[in-house]
Amino acid sequence: MKSQQTAKFIIHGLNPLGGEIEVYGSKNTAIKIIAASVLIPGQVILNNVPDILDVQKMISILEKMGGIFSRQDHQLTLDLTDLRPIDPDPDLVRQMRASIVLVGPLLARFGKVSIPHPGGCLIGPRPIDRHLKAFRDLGAEIIENQHNCQFKFSQSPQAKKVIFNKISVTASENVIIFAAFQKQKTIIENAAIEPEVIDLIEFLKLAGAKIQVLGRRIEILGTQQLKPLNYKIIPDRIEAATFAIMAAASRGNLNIKHLNPDHLTSLLSKFQAMGIKFEKGKDFLYIKNSPKILATNIFTAEYPGFPTDIQSPMGLLLTQAEGKSRLKENIFENRLGYLLELQKMGAKIKIINSKEAIIFGPTPLHGAKINSLDLRAGATLIIGGLIAKGKTEILQAENIDRGYEKIEERLKKIGARIERVLI
Ligand code: EPU
Repeated sequence: MKSQQTAKFIIHGLNPLGGEIEVYGSKNTAIKIIAASVLIPGQVILNNVPDILDVQKMISILEKMGGIFSRQDHQLTLDLTDLRPIDPDPDLVRQMRASIVLVGPLLARFGKVSIPHPGGCLIGPRPIDRHLKAFRDLGAEIIENQHNCQFKFSQSPQAKKVIFNKISVTASENVIIFAAFQKQKTIIENAAIEPEVIDLIEFLKLAGAKIQVLGRRIEILGTQQLKPLNYKIIPDRIEAATFAIMAAASRGNLNIKHLNPDHLTSLLSKFQAMGIKFEKGKDFLYIKNSPKILATNIFTAEYPGFPTDIQSPMGLLLTQAEGKSRLKENIFENRLGYLLELQKMGAKIKIINSKEAIIFGPTPLHGAKINSLDLRAGATLIIGGLIAKGKTEILQAENIDRGYEKIEERLKKIGARIERVLI
């Protein structure tokens, strides 16, 4: 994945979808495990690493600091032994909010780090106060100015406890990575326990840290001698869910391979309530053509609740469900923008406020020229285009490339009529 040229997708809808599609590795684990590898001397081999823009950005940041990377298909080999104690490139950091997870490993390894202040984004203001409070609890000095945040330790961190008043995925991960390098025990209360967090923990345990997850309490006994390892990243549950919803919305019969159905429990219980038929095995999910889909209510929550990252594809599916559905986004401030794009396609939606909407269905959609506002919204509009009558044009395709590898090539193999056009 090299170019980041602006592109759009052109989709001709109502082609039947079916066959088999494979889920690739988790974006939100790959980025954190690459960041955590800062603490490991020697060669780390990661398997099932998706070739997507966000992973490429994390690699570019660390390459600029002296990291060595080579990729063969989905296997990434990295050696961060000779990383220089310089700050990550602020221009690259600004391009990806997830680069905040470099604070934990760089602070642990070099005792100081400075990153640009992350700005807001389309799905909400996304401040970093939970990260700042956690590192202050651990004894870090933090100097914030208009442009950046400088973190440093004047003396070595002591045994510490971090209590999150509100859960944050990347703030929990930042502390876990930092703590995996500390000789004293760190305890985190009210931590995020998303499958991606647990996968990061498994990686750090295999590298030599002792970590126990007791509900939302995580106890970490780290070591400064983390060992090189070979690790396979979990399948991307959000990509898996996107394909499952795509199959259900298009009334296809689709076998989705290489996923972990245990990570999709909240989605599958909704499918059951909606009358969507499926079969699941150890690592597959087969979605069956279900002509009648029933309305339901969706309220997003931290894992194991209904994931915010699946809220937008689900909102699209609800336009095809019989009856009135209520949708409530409880994690992000402003993640319903895609509903305006779906309205341009004919969807009947009453937007109550920036977090709540009522969706009426079933409504046939028609093609339109629409904007992929962010990654998940973009994937949702692709599903919209696939089930709409006529031609749909989705601008800002590169938002989708952040998290879905070669999406058009993979969808063509299951019957989609989708083309990427460079602009
Ligand atoms: N928040 C604060 N202060 C903080 C941190 C977060 O107010 O210091 C707020 C956020 O603004 C948001 C809520 O808390 O409203 C939850 O944010 P969290 O920190 O849990 O989200 P994140 O760590 O920034 C990760 C994923 C997101 C996913 C969320 C929730 C990565 C790189 N990103 O973000 O994934 O939606 O957790 O599960 O892991 C995506 O993949 O498209 C994506 C946005």
